[in-house]
Amino acid sequence: TATLPTFTIEPTTTPTDAARRAEILANPVFGRAFTDHMAVIRYTEGEGWHDAKVTARQPLTLDPASSVLHYGQEIFEGMKAYRIAGGGVATFRPEANARRFRESAARMAMADLPEALFVEAVDQLVKIDSEWVPSGDGQSLYLRPFMIANEVFLGVKPASEYLFMVIACPVGAYFGKGCVSVWVSEDYTRAAPGGTGAAKCGGNYAGSLVAQAESKKHGCDQVLFLDSREQRFVEEMGGMNVMFVRDDNTLVTPPLTGTILPGITRDSIIRLAIQKGMKVEEAAVDIDELFQGAASGRYKEAFACGTAAVLSPIGTLRRAGGVATFGDGETPGAVSVALKKALTDIQTGRSNDQQNWVH
Ligand code: COI
Repeated sequence: TATLPTFTIEPTTTPTDAARRAEILANPVFGRAFTDHMAVIRYTEGEGWHDAKVTARQPLTLDPASSVLHYGQEIFEGMKAYRIAGGGVATFRPEANARRFRESAARMAMADLPEALFVEAVDQLVKIDSEWVPSGDGQSLYLRPFMIANEVFLGVKPASEYLFMVIACPVGAYFGKGCVSVWVSEDYTRAAPGGTGAAKCGGNYAGSLVAQAESKKHGCDQVLFLDSREQRFVEEMGGMNVMFVRDDNTLVTPPLTGTILPGITRDSIIRLAIQKGMKVEEAAVDIDELFQGAASGRYKEAFACGTAAVLSPIGTLRRAGGVATFGDGETPGAVSVALKKALTDIQTGRSNDQQNWVH
């Protein structure tokens, strides 16, 4: 196996002053304010990964013919570092993100980044910017590893040069409200069989934005996509997976058939639900049955889940033909609350990490 490059550490000479940082940490807004450093690793065909460093966060210089700007070879990850009860900082299942990153890279014909290098880049950044990890309830340091193709060439082919980076921003709750409302898109779909739906590539999110804008027009917070063949089965939301709780103590979520993102939060919640004695069905959810089941009480709860969203209860689902309400539409359901607590207690070291998820 090739030896991995070692990181050069170049601390910033102009760190954010402590008062300004404290102000940001007191009320962190998702994705707006960033830490002082970034991790960077370069890839060149033939040479492999090289020039690993942690350096001052700064703008990139890109040639206008860089391939990412034209054909969109870009992938990313979302993960978080938490302040741990009793001291210290930890990330959550970083090797799972590293593995998914490799799978995304393979789908987009991009360079394969060794999992150990991915995890080390994240660790190095968290370490140098550890003062940026907020300590408030529901707060964390959001980490954004990503990779772009930066060969200077307009031919349509997999690039021969890539840039891998990690940036970080302190965050609080993604939605900042008890229950979210969701618009079911019947005009747009997100991914088709054989497409890129299971890869975490920027293009999937670009394609979701017009539907997300439509959801806002209907007064909703998020969009839910249906399958691209029949527009009948639930897939996922604009940037997170979706789950339902049925009245027979069953957690139901669409299966990973290649068109939805294999969420690490999704996987963790499934495992925690099983531990709690729930049944879990990874099964197709017919949208009409879901609307009927919400009305009859068969479907008691619904929630979005993802790294950014954590577990966000859904109060209402809207579509052109009507509204489905879960519970009273405003109060998070008991199962959603319990699963969220089980997950976040592990992430923040408040409960025993039986699965060895905390890093
Ligand atoms: C995450 O949950 O980390 C994501 O990547 C979703 C994001 C598009 C906000």
